Amino acid sequence: MAVREILRFGEDSLRKKCRPVTSFDEKLAVLLDDMKETLLGAEGVGLAAPQVGILRRAVVIDLRDGKGAIELINPELVFEEGVQVGNEGCLSAPGEWCEVERPKKVTVKAFDRTGKEFSVTGEDLLARALCHELDHLEGILFTDRVKQTIPKR
Ligand code: CO
Repeated sequence: MAVREILRFGEDSLRKKCRPVTSFDEKLAVLLDDMKETLLGAEGVGLAAPQVGILRRAVVIDLRDGKGAIELINPELVFEEGVQVGNEGCLSAPGEWCEVERPKKVTVKAFDRTGKEFSVTGEDLLARALCHELDHLEGILFTDRVKQTIPKR
């Protein structure tokens, strides 16, 4: 496993729509292991493949709640309910926090690293993390979701 460099806002890779993963192979396993190690090292809760320069639909989320990391390949939002508003940040924009509106609860369908389909339902922080990371796969950044504009002085 290796820690990969996390790209910062402004890098082209963060603005690209990612392609689906088609091979559930050793290369994918290495990518996911590296992403998990990178996420752990950066003390974040989620990381998407484009953040390490790989334009594929792969995400890791680790809320550090003792349940371990979730790996999502080719994830798809299949259900959302309610609204939550809260502060959100991104490993690609250290120190930047914005108030972002997200669904309160979501269900995401995805594949694991072996190609087996599963679904995960999350509320609150997990729902927020899932939406944030799925956005990355479309080239959408959390700052795009900020509705409030801060008046200039
Ligand atoms: Co992010």
